[in-house]
Amino acid sequence: MFLFDIDTRSDHMAQFLLVEDLNTHYITEKGHVHAVENVSFNLENGESIGIAGESACGKSTLGLSIIRIIPGGKIISGKILADGESILELSEEEFDKKQRWKKISMVFQGAMNSLDPVFTVYRQLSDVLKQHGFEGDYSDTIKWAVRSVGLKEDVLQKYPHELSGGMKQRIVIAMA
Ligand SMILES: Nc1ncnc2c1ncn2[C@@H]1O[C@H](COP(=O)(O)OP(=O)(O)OP(=O)(O)O)[C@@H](O)[C@H]1O
Ligand SMILES: [Mg+2]
Repeated sequence: MFLFDIDTRSDHMAQFLLVEDLNTHYITEKGHVHAVENVSFNLENGESIGIAGESACGKSTLGLSIIRIIPGGKIISGKILADGESILELSEEEFDKKQRWKKISMVFQGAMNSLDPVFTVYRQLSDVLKQHGFEGDYSDTIKWAVRSVGLKEDVLQKYPHELSGGMKQRIVIAMA
């Protein structure tokens, strides 16, 4: 459902994502929906975690909380450390500049359906780089990104309708 892609570093810092007693609510006319309640976990460098639970138990809201994009919702309390930095204490600007889409990315639920049918995979990946002001080598970076999700470079000239569901999902992970 989601992916946190935080730079791995070669120094000794082992912990790269810590979530502690996180509470996120949606504030509605009928009151607070306690979507995330007292969630804590700790990931070390190189580890990954899968979170399973019944529909509506708050998995997406947990991901949205970590990337601080919670439409209609609010983090009520808790702590999130990403690569040692307390991200809930950063201003929106600082978080954008240092963390969001730089060190932490999210693949939204159903994101593979948001690929544009009229553009090739290459074009859509290059649009992401352009959007974020990337200044390196587009071709090398894009080839590296698709290889990193286990796809071959020939996928780059294809259109979304030529890909399987899993391949589309990998493309959006490569974008993240
Ligand atoms: N914008 C919103 N306003 C009010 N309540 C919301 C909003 N978004 C989600 N919720 C509620 O928050 C709870 C958690 O929703 P969330 O989307 O995080 O669940 P989920 O575990 O990702 O479910 P699924 O497995 O179906 O994707 C649900 O009760 C949902 O109705
Ligand atoms: Mg969900």
